[in-house]
Amino acid sequence: MDMGIKGRKAIVCGASKGLGKGCALALAREGVALVLNARGADALAKTAAEINAATGATVTAVAADVTTEAGRATLLAACPDPDILVTNSAGPPAGDFRNWSGDDWMKALNGNMVTHILLIKAVIDGMIARRFGRIVNITSAAVKSPYPGLGMSNGARSGLTGFVAGLARQVSQHNVTINNLLPGSHETDRLRSLIEAEAKTRGVPAAQALAEAKAAETAKRFGTVDEFGAACAFLCSAHAGYIAGQNLLLDGGSYNGTL
Ligand SMILES: NC(=O)c1ccc[n+]([C@@H]2O[C@H](COP(=O)([O-])OP(=O)(O)OC[C@H]3O[C@@H](n4cnc5c(N)ncnc54)[C@H](OP(=O)(O)O)[C@@H]3O)[C@@H](O)[C@H]2O)c1
Repeated sequence: MDMGIKGRKAIVCGASKGLGKGCALALAREGVALVLNARGADALAKTAAEINAATGATVTAVAADVTTEAGRATLLAACPDPDILVTNSAGPPAGDFRNWSGDDWMKALNGNMVTHILLIKAVIDGMIARRFGRIVNITSAAVKSPYPGLGMSNGARSGLTGFVAGLARQVSQHNVTINNLLPGSHETDRLRSLIEAEAKTRGVPAAQALAEAKAAETAKRFGTVDEFGAACAFLCSAHAGYIAGQNLLLDGGSYNGTL
């Protein structure tokens, strides 16, 4: 299926590895020119070269911390008028909420809510003027089904989801869509580090905890970054202009609900 976005320009945040990289690769396969972001310059340059070699897409790497004003300014200077924006950044740490300070909460809210909103704010009026825009926020299954140990993720991402629900309905008339992708368990460094931390707490080998986590999934496996990227590319496609303000859960059916 031709997604109808060949020649479009995309900013993909948090994209040197994991889910962001999956989204970037899927968009590049559709002929989208990428501005790729992450903090670590070396890994980012490697990923940019890999995607360019695999797809022939133009890939510009911008190493910057997207949760800072200076980082966002650097990123947006490289691509002030994107057609597509994929927002992403590191998830907050797990733990007991009794141990979190006000500063910890502000950091989580900044990284998983405010950063995404400020990026959207920077690009949305241009998208409206050009009558094409696709914004996809990488959030979490936590929005639909909270993780007990990830209170800051549950809270901050729900705030983003509420904001986007309102804004998406103000801009769909301009062929600008905003949707959220909610990853369940996808086999990335983030997931592996959470499972390893849990294994340490329980005093069991990491391999055992990993196998147990897979077995606990309804699909009996984790999602892949390619599957995740393909969903992102479709939401960014020319065909998805009537999908607005939605939260697409990618979890192999682990959330047990009819709707
Ligand atoms: N994997 C899952 O199963 C899962 C499930 C639910 C939610 N999520 C959420 O989905 C998001 C992506 O997860 P992932 O599994 O793909 O993580 P990952 O494998 O750790 O990859 C994260 C990517 O984002 C970059 N990044 C992190 N913080 C950044 C920042 N401040 N500015 C710019 N780039 C940044 C990282 O590179 P640098 O470190 O070099 O910056 C890396 O490229 C996270 O918010 C995570 O919590 C993941």
